[in-house]
Amino acid sequence: MMQGRLITLEGGEGVGKSTNLRFIEHWLQQRRIEVTVTREPGGTLLAEKIRGLLLDFHDEPLAPQAELLLMFAARAQHLQQVILPALTRGTWVVCDRFTDASYAYQGGGRGLDMTAIAWLEQWVQDDLRPDLTLILDAPVAVGMQRAGRRGDFDRFENERLAFFERVRTAYLQRAAQSPARYRVIDAALPLDDVQQQIAEVLASLCQT
Ligand SMILES: Nc1ncnc2c1ncn2[C@@H]1O[C@H](COP(=O)(O)OP(=O)(O)OP(=O)(O)O)[C@@H](O)[C@H]1O
Ligand SMILES: [Mg+2]
Repeated sequence: MMQGRLITLEGGEGVGKSTNLRFIEHWLQQRRIEVTVTREPGGTLLAEKIRGLLLDFHDEPLAPQAELLLMFAARAQHLQQVILPALTRGTWVVCDRFTDASYAYQGGGRGLDMTAIAWLEQWVQDDLRPDLTLILDAPVAVGMQRAGRRGDFDRFENERLAFFERVRTAYLQRAAQSPARYRVIDAALPLDDVQQQIAEVLASLCQT
């Protein structure tokens, strides 16, 4: 059976995830690899509606547990509708944020129990884990400045600096715990250098 690979892009606000998602898509297409690019939370009609609940401001504060469950609700939908069918037909999937973001934002940022997140991960995903997770890492201020040029803040971007420091720390801890699956990329470097590092990682993934 053909089996595609799942690559996820992670990191804080404005580090360059969306920019490099397009770079990876192009890099794979040039090598005649079928690729689907997608994002979380979202990626399907219903999951994008959940994204709206998560990112927009509401009159009523969203409970942290509700936030976590909505993330996984969107993810379950995304897996069923998009990710699993693509992988099964041999298409590679490149996803802008995935479950590591739940660990980093809801676990690190909001302080929710990591074992609850791990339980949801196993329940919703069974044994599916990304083949490769690229963590674009940069000082919080660098990402904020890049994202800031875009204007309008969403519900997460409105958080305080300390929140994003915890997010960054949680990402780096996850990478340190499972070095085989993660590559930490220095995203503070100029874009050309970042993309050269990413291309090297992709080339080695293609050889395995
Ligand atoms: N290495 C880099 N050097 C300088 N500018 C960069 C670099 N990478 C991305 N940028 C710029 O920073 C801005 C934010 O990039 P991008 O939207 O890709 O980040 P993101 O991680 O997807 O942000 P968000 O978390 O808000 O979705 C864009 O204007 C992009 O062109
Ligand atoms: Mg983006």
